[in-house]
Amino acid sequence: MTPEQIKLVQASFAKVTPISEQAAVIFYDRLFEIAPAVKAMFPADMTEQRKKLMATLAVVVNGLSNLESVLPAASALARRHVAYGAKPAHYPVVGGALLWTLEKGLGDAWTPDVAAAWIAAYGTLSGYMISEAYGSIQAAE
Ligand code: HEM
Repeated sequence: MTPEQIKLVQASFAKVTPISEQAAVIFYDRLFEIAPAVKAMFPADMTEQRKKLMATLAVVVNGLSNLESVLPAASALARRHVAYGAKPAHYPVVGGALLWTLEKGLGDAWTPDVAAAWIAAYGTLSGYMISEAYGSIQAAE
């Protein structure tokens, strides 16, 4: 990611923060629409889950400018996800739901540059999480 892309991700995420609960609802609705089988992996009451997701995204987004500071937490998060039943192939699906949510939440502020910056950010994070949790061989499957 370029420094400009980091700024774009941080500035656009800041715009979503005031509607963070709503964004999380949109995100999980979209995720369960495009990947219905994933729904059974989550608790029935998603209230806490929504808060945890948005809080974690905030930490990661803030940490982009100092990536090393967030890598240990991202690695631990990835390893916990193995126990949740997450597979490498789920990561692009989650990424798709995230981008879709940002596009809806940001409206006109969702520009091609912002989209490219988020694709780079999610690619970096999910690639790292997959290799930490499954190793590079499984990650390619
Ligand atoms: C970068 C991507 C992701 C982020 C930032 C993220 C974030 C989180 C966070 C913060 C939690 C709360 C529990 C914890 O901290 O351990 C969580 C739980 C969970 N995540 Fe993810 N997640 C990601 C990708 C995925 C993927 C790809 C799946 C696969 C379907 C997934 C499925 C789950 C499930 C099922 C739980 C709930 C576990 C439970 O409470 O029983 N997540 N996620």
